[in-house]
Amino acid sequence: MITFGTRPEAIKMIPVYQELKKYPELFEVRLVVTGQHREMLDQVLQLYSITPDVDFDIMSPNQTLTNITNTLQLKFDELFTIERPDLILVHGDTTTALVAAFEAFYHKIKIGHVEAGLRTYDLYNPFPEEANRQLIGRFASLHFAPTLKAKNNLIKENTQGKIWVTGNTGIDTLFLNLKKEYHDPFLENVNEDKIIILTTHRRENIGESMEHIFLALKELSYKWPEYSFIYPIHLNPKIQQMARQFLENISNVHLINPLGVIGFHHYLQKSKLILTDSGGIQEEATALGKPVLILRDTTERPEGVMHGTLKIVGTNKDNIINEVDKLLNNDSYYQKFATAKNPYGDGTASKQIIAALKGYFYSNN
Ligand code: UD1
Ligand code: UDP
Repeated sequence: MITFGTRPEAIKMIPVYQELKKYPELFEVRLVVTGQHREMLDQVLQLYSITPDVDFDIMSPNQTLTNITNTLQLKFDELFTIERPDLILVHGDTTTALVAAFEAFYHKIKIGHVEAGLRTYDLYNPFPEEANRQLIGRFASLHFAPTLKAKNNLIKENTQGKIWVTGNTGIDTLFLNLKKEYHDPFLENVNEDKIIILTTHRRENIGESMEHIFLALKELSYKWPEYSFIYPIHLNPKIQQMARQFLENISNVHLINPLGVIGFHHYLQKSKLILTDSGGIQEEATALGKPVLILRDTTERPEGVMHGTLKIVGTNKDNIINEVDKLLNNDSYYQKFATAKNPYGDGTASKQIIAALKGYFYSNN
């Protein structure tokens, strides 16, 4: 069984699902989506023509962590009372992943954790994701770590079970999506290399930090009028409202709805730099050699920082502006970031995960 509920989990689990489906003689596959996200999840499912076997459809307006957790506990309990998979695969650090793992554990169903071992070791950054992934690590018996560093984190924690280093499945999706012949009217008309992308949605940034981010973007858009600032706003109503309040009606700031992931990957590829508090975008941008200023105080993806493509800048307005100015004013500084060394895998993570599962279930290794 594979389960996921939000946009990034879908983007990173669909290649695993598709790979598993290639071996019907070995694996009977069930896809359970929770609908923790609705529109943003459906957007991904539709792009890849995926129809889940079960959809809990739980999203409610202004849902809280407690709402999601309570509802999902009952749903997974009911499901696992009827269906007992040999293994459930969960991804990363969302509430969907945590509750699925927690209930699977109660039902003594084996858990495989994809994107295991990422850590900041700061329980409130990101919140609640750092706690979620640590807890899932305790419940799981199969751990698919994207990097050696992630594996070493698990070893240091005396994690039980087996660990494989596979690369990140998000890179599988990225490489599959990028096509020379991709057409987008906006990308074709905008100045090549003059795109700056912003995304922000972290819970701990909502409020004052996000105001700082938006004020920085506003000032940058006036300072750098030849650049197009593209901001696909997360559908969280709080963020939609704040973003429009601060950034509406600026001619070179494009406030748009979330892009389909195939389109978004091409926007990343065409961009000059990226401002984000996202996790997955840090990996994708590093793989493409696109500088990322991380709008957070910590990252669980230190490999990209070590390779020089990612820099943690936090959410202070002046700091963000200074860091963007430095990258745009100084080409040799920019080039130090823009080296496409990719520590997150070669696009075969899903294949490696399925090979590990074959070994685990059929050859005892
Ligand atoms: C969740 C994950 C986070 C991940 C993010 C990806 C948890 C704890 N956090 O955070 O790790 O980075 O997804 O985007 O699981 N909403 C809509 N339509 C949608 C999606 C969301 O209206 O398609 C609204 C929800 O109703 C809710 C808000 O956005 O009011 C936030 O969604 P939620 O799933 O609670 O958390 P995220 O911040 O998206
Ligand atoms: N993404 C997308 N459309 C957008 C913005 C992002 O498809 O308009 C993709 C992006 O390529 C990445 C994922 O969404 O794969 C990241 O999701 P998000 O930032 O919401 O969550 P996180 O990765 O922080 O958990």
